[in-house]
Amino acid sequence: MAKKPIFAPIMSNSTDDLFKNVIAHAKEYGFVFPSSEIYDGLSAVYDYGQNGAELKNNIKTYWWKAMVQMNENIVGIDSAIFMHPKIWKASGHVDGFSDPMIDNKDSKKRYRADQLLEDKIAKYDEEGKTDLAEELQHEMDEALKAENLPRLKELIIQHDITDPIGGSRNWTDVRQFNLMFSTQMGAVADDADVVYLRPETAQGIFVNYLNVQKSGRMKIPFGIAQIGKAFRNEVIARQFIIRMREFEQMEMQFFVRPGTQAEWFDKWKQARLQWHLALGTEPAKYRFHEHTKLAHYADAAFDIEFQFPFGFKEVEGIHSRTDFDLSQHQKFSGKKLQYFDPEINQNYVPYVIETSIGLDRMFLLTMINAYEEEDLSTEEKQDSRTVLRLHPCLAPVKAAIFPLTKKDGLPEKAQEIMSSLKADFNLQYEEKDAIGKRYRRQDAIGTPFCITVDHQTLEDNTVTIRYRDTMQQERVSATDLGSIIGDLVSWRNLLG
Ligand code: GAP
Repeated sequence: MAKKPIFAPIMSNSTDDLFKNVIAHAKEYGFVFPSSEIYDGLSAVYDYGQNGAELKNNIKTYWWKAMVQMNENIVGIDSAIFMHPKIWKASGHVDGFSDPMIDNKDSKKRYRADQLLEDKIAKYDEEGKTDLAEELQHEMDEALKAENLPRLKELIIQHDITDPIGGSRNWTDVRQFNLMFSTQMGAVADDADVVYLRPETAQGIFVNYLNVQKSGRMKIPFGIAQIGKAFRNEVIARQFIIRMREFEQMEMQFFVRPGTQAEWFDKWKQARLQWHLALGTEPAKYRFHEHTKLAHYADAAFDIEFQFPFGFKEVEGIHSRTDFDLSQHQKFSGKKLQYFDPEINQNYVPYVIETSIGLDRMFLLTMINAYEEEDLSTEEKQDSRTVLRLHPCLAPVKAAIFPLTKKDGLPEKAQEIMSSLKADFNLQYEEKDAIGKRYRRQDAIGTPFCITVDHQTLEDNTVTIRYRDTMQQERVSATDLGSIIGDLVSWRNLLG
């Protein structure tokens, strides 16, 4: 009978299995852990492990290079998470950044009213009741647009929506629930000012618009980019790192002359999709979704959606934010936030195109896209491997170095090669277990190259390099390794 393979994953038969297996894999191989796990976790908060932190940094580098380094008219900043509380009044977040919530009096569970309705619409669709689905969608959109909370409750009652957990119909009224976390700044509680944990990084850019424009002598059109944490008290946190309470955004605000925003909006829509596709993702897995209900600040908005195992979900938003934010900050701060355009000899408040991508969603997308359970069985034996086919630029470990055995000076030679390369690449050294097992462990974390040092290395300074995707091996000179690996992991492959 064929031997059971050592790294036999449960083959993902359904998309549900695939998602579960990716989550399990992310934990087992040090990519993502539930936060505070030894205390039973903290809902919708996650930690990135040793491989996850590397992958996340590489995604950030790819974004930063593409946005800042490759564009002479875009600069990057790093603003503080805490900001003056008036900023959130000006931006509309204090009054408007909320979700309509409803509680079930029996189960004491809280739900987003619009999500309960969305689930019902999906159910109608599944049952082929498309008329009902369309009607409910329309009525919900109208109620949301008019911020008519009693109407949302009426719809929940009319469509006989029950508590997904307890099945009860005993609902409270629908109320708005602000998503911002607040805390106090200052030692004495009574005197302390309420400050918010920023729910988006964008406002840190807007309030620094003038500082950057003046100190960098920036000429319109120009952009300011930033990567950083954002916090939202999401009521319904689900689907792993898709909806978190603490997450990271990569945002860029592009300041343009009023009247040119539509043209720049189209350019950024295409440029951002290109950034995603350059990683080699199948184009059919992406789509644009146009917002019909626009946020108060926007005159156009599209999402870039990716086909996750549980359906298409937003990964990035491209928003035409008009002059709303700068005008509001001008009004609330009393400081002029204008630009003198020498080409038309006019002062104006610039218009803004925003690109805003969730780093954690991009991370999940990358893991799902890369994850493969590959059947390697032959007639003689069953075999399989789990491989992360990450783009080499994103892979946490660029190469692993193995001495074939633990003796005859091979570990020393392998360490010597490792020392000559580690300033340039993140490498791993492994001498435990048979080579086959070591290959499988590196496949599972997406290491593109494994280098084996054997007895021949001691004679002629050659090593074998094994490629993750094809599993083919070739013999090369150890002195060429720097340039071979360097070419394969060069950012030029993505940005050139
Ligand atoms: N400045 C605009 C803005 O914040 P958004 O559509 O609310 O726009 C932008 O957020 C991106 O941030 C989303 O496309 C998503 O990828 C990510 N994001 C938003 N909320 C999130 C959450 N709770 N958990 C993880 N990512 C989130």
